Amino acid sequence: MTPRMVRWFWVAIPMQILVIGLLVARMEGAQQYPVAAKARLGHKQNGPDLITSHLGPLHFYQLALPVPKPKPGSFDAAGASRGSAVFAGKARCATCHVPPLFTESGWNTHKATEIGIDDFQANRSPDRSYRTAPLRGLTSHAKGGFYHDGRFADLTAVVEHYNQFFKLALTDADKRDLVEYLKSL
Ligand code: HEC
Repeated sequence: MTPRMVRWFWVAIPMQILVIGLLVARMEGAQQYPVAAKARLGHKQNGPDLITSHLGPLHFYQLALPVPKPKPGSFDAAGASRGSAVFAGKARCATCHVPPLFTESGWNTHKATEIGIDDFQANRSPDRSYRTAPLRGLTSHAKGGFYHDGRFADLTAVVEHYNQFFKLALTDADKRDLVEYLKSL
């Protein structure tokens, strides 16, 4: 498999599994999704079942995919090392983005008000919240911006958002180091 394909699978497969899960859950909520609930789309069964037997191997494959590594020289190692302390310390990023997966165990979502953005897309999901994005391999999907809708053009904009929303009082050096650390994950 080429590196490009690995990158694509790494993002696309978990995304598809998440979307299928959300689709099934959303069809149950009669108030939020009246049409799907009325048609009982969450209970749809087709015979023969060509899918279920593949789910175990697919899950295994998904978990076995290597994290895309940042290109050598694409980040400043000394800055990243200082940024790691900022991430775990004064910026409090690790309270939600918990290493080693840099997301949370269990139901890893937050309400829009907890991360300082609007709830437009969250309200379309069954529990009206956003998933704590895992942060490894960030550089593999740097095009198109960050957050679910790409609203932040680059990592500096993400850090600036958190700095203002959580009133973190990060210095310019802290912010630069934090970005180098994010690029290194
Ligand atoms: C209260 C929990 C919480 C805290 C604290 C938090 N995050 Fe996040 N983070 C989230 C959630 C939830 C998302 C997904 C937002 C979305 O998709 O719209 C996210 C998304 C991101 C993304 C975008 C990833 C992508 O693939 O688009 C980056 C980068 C990020 N956070 C970095 C940080 C950094 C750096 C800090 C510390 C300054 C931090 N986060 C603190 C919950 C948190």
